[in-house]
Amino acid sequence: MSAQLTSRINGIYARSIYLPLSDFGRELRTLSRRVRKVERGQRATLPVADWREAIDVRPIRIVAPEKNSGDVNLGELAVLASAAAATRAGDEIVEIGTFDGRTTLNLAVNAAPQYRVFTLDLPPEAAPKFDLAPGERAYVEKPRSGRRFLDPPPEWRAAAGRISQLMGDTATFDWSPHVARAGLVFVDGSHAHDYVIADSDTAFRLVANKGMVIWHDYGVWEGVTRALDEIEASRQLGLRHVRGTSLVVWCNQ
Ligand SMILES: C[S@@+](CC[C@H](N)C(=O)[O-])C[C@H]1O[C@@H](n2cnc3c(N)ncnc32)[C@H](O)[C@@H]1O
Repeated sequence: MSAQLTSRINGIYARSIYLPLSDFGRELRTLSRRVRKVERGQRATLPVADWREAIDVRPIRIVAPEKNSGDVNLGELAVLASAAAATRAGDEIVEIGTFDGRTTLNLAVNAAPQYRVFTLDLPPEAAPKFDLAPGERAYVEKPRSGRRFLDPPPEWRAAAGRISQLMGDTATFDWSPHVARAGLVFVDGSHAHDYVIADSDTAFRLVANKGMVIWHDYGVWEGVTRALDEIEASRQLGLRHVRGTSLVVWCNQ
């Protein structure tokens, strides 16, 4: 089977089977914990919405579907690929936090060819401006940032060629060339509260009119959950928790 066809089948499976099943699994786990009176993770209080309420439905491709620790899950990757496929705002896509570059590659594969994808990662030797969250050094100190798009299979070389890898600390990086240009900003860097607040402010500056910001790990990392709850409480932007995922979405209408 050709890589093109396989990627389409992966996209259908990820969005139409994996994502609804993972929502069902989450509901079951929540119910089971309630019955057993067990607390785990944080209480997610943002309103829940189906991904289709925020994103136009377009066909997607999923490449490199196998997940490593630190990657988004397959359902989340499908939502991010859908957002990239649907965006018509601005001329850039920005990812904050590269890790192995699996999401970056999928953003580039699904976005219209006029989009450049920028992804920023912290060099392991750099001293970050704020403290990182406990345990997340492992994601910083990896063998090769962005390895999935740096050496892509031949079918995805053209898409990978539209990716620009940036290195720096999100809190001190000079974002000025990217202001108000992003059809999609994906916030998935440090999970420490101070960073999520700073990275969200950056995302709000980078997003184009009619563009979208998506955050990862709501309800999973305490710093992310608290920061997004605070942003919504103080600004009432209309952040929504995407059903079946730890993603939060905001549309700059
Ligand atoms: C959870 S991983 C990102 C996963 C990736 N977005 C994906 O979907 O596969 C977090 C990434 O953020 C990076 N990071 C952490 N703190 C950062 C900072 N202050 N500035 C830039 N990148 C940072 C880490 O090096 C790591 O690559």
